Amino acid sequence: MKITINNKFLFNAKGMYTGILFLVLQSTTFGQVSPFQYSINKQATGKQGAVSSAHPLASEVGLDMLKQGGNAFDAAIATQLALAVVYPGAGNIGGGGFLVAHTTDGKSIAIDYRERAPGRATRDMYLDKEGNPLLNLSQHGHLASGVPGTVAGLFSTHKYAKLDFVKLIEPAIKLAEEGFVITASEARSLNGSAPSFIKYNTQTPVFVKSGGWKAGDTLIQKELAVTLKRIRDNGAKGFYEGETARLVVEEMKRGGGIINFEDLKKYEAAERAPVVFDYKGYTVIGMPMPSSGGLLMQQMMKMVEDRQIGTMGFHSPEAVQLMIEVERRAYADRAEFMGDKDFVKVPVKSLASDSYLKERMSDFIPGKATPSAMVKPGNLQAESDETTHLSVADRYGNAVSVTTTLNGGYGSKTVVGGAGFLLNNEMDDFSVKPGVPNMFGAVGKEANAIQPGKRMLSSMTPTIVLKKRKPWLVVGTPGGTTIPTSVFQTLLNIIEFKQSALDAVNNPKFHHQWLPDQVMVEQDFPKTLQQSLEAMGYKFTNRGQIGRTEVISITREGKKITAIEAVADKRGDDHASAY
Ligand code: DON
Repeated sequence: MKITINNKFLFNAKGMYTGILFLVLQSTTFGQVSPFQYSINKQATGKQGAVSSAHPLASEVGLDMLKQGGNAFDAAIATQLALAVVYPGAGNIGGGGFLVAHTTDGKSIAIDYRERAPGRATRDMYLDKEGNPLLNLSQHGHLASGVPGTVAGLFSTHKYAKLDFVKLIEPAIKLAEEGFVITASEARSLNGSAPSFIKYNTQTPVFVKSGGWKAGDTLIQKELAVTLKRIRDNGAKGFYEGETARLVVEEMKRGGGIINFEDLKKYEAAERAPVVFDYKGYTVIGMPMPSSGGLLMQQMMKMVEDRQIGTMGFHSPEAVQLMIEVERRAYADRAEFMGDKDFVKVPVKSLASDSYLKERMSDFIPGKATPSAMVKPGNLQAESDETTHLSVADRYGNAVSVTTTLNGGYGSKTVVGGAGFLLNNEMDDFSVKPGVPNMFGAVGKEANAIQPGKRMLSSMTPTIVLKKRKPWLVVGTPGGTTIPTSVFQTLLNIIEFKQSALDAVNNPKFHHQWLPDQVMVEQDFPKTLQQSLEAMGYKFTNRGQIGRTEVISITREGKKITAIEAVADKRGDDHASAY
């Protein structure tokens, strides 16, 4: 049996193994695709619908739902559930996420299923007696987890869907129960996390394999399959109550965590008014608080709107300097003002107003770096990028943009014993102490301090752009604090620098977040451009990869959809499917 990636052989499984798998292959395929033989497409175009996500099997599961009469919401639900199985580093039921959508009848939607701090969480829970931060506790193991929101979010989404939930979850159950072959990068990633899986679990999870994983191995997750069946049979209660809740609470007790039955039972997803703003006649729809993503996008796009950035040219020192400076200013506001609006007052209107943003740029000097007020430079860790984004569009005119996460790769690294799913380490997205950087180097203050029930500030930026009031672009990416700046660059690449969606996604990215006062760049960021910017006073650091952006672009003639193009980032196993 062979797995191909871009038509090159990636690996061969052993002969006997092939024979056994062949039987399974007969019973389980998603459309044309088998969990034991799949390839990766980076670009796909159709007229009926498209899905782009971090994993071929998840994209194909979503596409199959579209083919079976589902809409983009059905596909988004099924894709997320499949990702929870085939992409355990970030796909999840033990984490949280955000959905931004635009419906065929013209409604813009934002669903917030971000994790919440448990009822027993306290402001200083990650500080020792002397007030020193205990980042190991906010980033790893049982105490790092917020109350998961994903399952509640999927059921909130379902009211916009057409198919039965039982149908949408079935592929995920099959993938967990019967297994799927893993790619080379998944094998590397699981092996890299093995020491943490052992350290942060009371029972060794299925993600640890003696001798290590290799490409072509089959990952079977029986316990996860049973948990998914409880969700299939009992709805959200199959997760937040009953046996699954009991297993979560027992796991918490074994490992010194604080999530209890009440926290789980009380969790609710929230439908919110999305951020909506105009950029040169296009309508941009984004995620509101507790994500900083939508507001940061609004601030950054509005700060460049009247500066003719398109004529400066893609990756010209002038254009990149302008973008760095707007990023710096927006992120300074993030650190000071942004947090969960259900708990703190966030001056959203002022921060987004034209007069404020004009004032904000009044000290911008072309050709010269504006130093960030040095409070305490963040200490960025090279933690693997493990959030995940999916973009979906259907023939009815619905568009759905979802970013979901466990936070770091494999979240807290703690698997709920007997339930087979990983818990998030999202508590680290709170500001554990003013000025102390989190794992993405982001600093915060009171607005993002820990309070029971509060949602931690996020950078996730699921985004939709409308052209003539109809969905045109569906965009998003993982990448922690680099998410909003990656989405910002992707949109400018398409709108201002007239790039194809594929180029806009794959071109090298850069990032500035106020503190630390550095421009982070990918390895292939042009060296001559870097030198021009260094001459203006900018400091650079290399960051392996920035984001894994998924874009769908929809072309219309009049009202009729003539093409739906899906693009998947070159940076991972990301896969575009369309028909
Ligand atoms: O919500 C946030 O902003 C972060 N928890 C996202 C984490 C992330 O993107 C990790 N991977 N790149």
